[in-house]
Amino acid sequence: MTYTESVQAQLEALRKKEHVRILSLETSCDETAASIVEDGRTIVSNVVFSQIDLHALYGGVVPEIASRAHVEACDRVVDQALKEAGMTLQDVDALAVTYGPGLVGALLTGVSCMKGLAYAANKPLVPVNHIEGHVSANYLTHPDLKPPFVCLVVSGGHSHLVRVTDYGCYELLGQTTDDAAGEAFDKAARVLTLPYPGGPRIDKLAEEGDPHYMQLPHPHTPGRYDYSFSGMKTAFLNAANKLEMKGEPLPKADMAASFRYAVVSALVEKAVLAATETGAPALAMAGGVSANSLLRRMMQEACDKAGIPLYMPRLNLCTDNAAMIASAAYYRLMKGELAPLTLNAMPALRLV
Ligand code: KG4
Ligand code: ZN
Repeated sequence: MTYTESVQAQLEALRKKEHVRILSLETSCDETAASIVEDGRTIVSNVVFSQIDLHALYGGVVPEIASRAHVEACDRVVDQALKEAGMTLQDVDALAVTYGPGLVGALLTGVSCMKGLAYAANKPLVPVNHIEGHVSANYLTHPDLKPPFVCLVVSGGHSHLVRVTDYGCYELLGQTTDDAAGEAFDKAARVLTLPYPGGPRIDKLAEEGDPHYMQLPHPHTPGRYDYSFSGMKTAFLNAANKLEMKGEPLPKADMAASFRYAVVSALVEKAVLAATETGAPALAMAGGVSANSLLRRMMQEACDKAGIPLYMPRLNLCTDNAAMIASAAYYRLMKGELAPLTLNAMPALRLV
């Protein structure tokens, strides 16, 4: 029997199994992560190796350095995830890997590693969209959450409002017309000469500042649920340049607080509008920016006011991890969506 025939034959038995355990690997950007999750909902082990220290020196992710570091870390994080779960490769039912979107070289190391493991262990391999992984972090945190719901996806590369109609099924409600929210935070942090990664630094500094120190433009967007952050970013940069030309020190905490307030207000306003107007039974948040403390507070307040249940991932599941990839993989596996051994990295893979 070929590998393909063998894994297809395993599918029927897997669907009837009481518990299905998936071992996942995530290497799309600057985190090498592996995890074992049971039934898409219960984390058995979750290992994240962050490369932040390697890239901090350059003020951002250096793709070549990221790929190299993934190659070195892949085997180690997979071994560690198995060890922490007290399992061997034979104890897991299927494997999963992020195949896009992300840095092509970084993705390729993970895809190659898991194709090799899947073939060697004769286990099904599930290809996972990284952004779907972020959405699925909510299933790990909230066992009661089921589609349909509206989800605000805010990461380093994405700012989307989607309707999750079923597991793995999405309709686009709105998106950014320029920068992603995380990207905007990272760029503003650079203006304030804060170290990479900027988003969490701005968030922390903002706690000590005045959010009304400066007013940033609230842009007009083509679609009702679209976002735009480039105008805010330019106004922010101009204000910093003006102060510098006058030889005045930047009031960094006040500026960070004002920028955070402007971005978060826009995110909250459109997300709650979309959830209300589409009659969504719940609103969820996903992606690195959903770790932002003001976003979590303001979204909770707005949802309480609008009477919409709000779901957000636990803090350590907001940023990149492999548990969310295994959760997404579970529902894809149950639908019979397996990767061929020719699976390739897709750096520009879309969710919708
Ligand atoms: O989802 P993620 O870990 O990676 C991508 O898939 O892009 O998101 C990373 C982004 C970065 O832009 C980072 O600055 C931002 O999320 N981020 C935050 C916070 N934590 C991470 N932005 C604002 N506040 C935070 N607390
Ligand atoms: Zn991510």
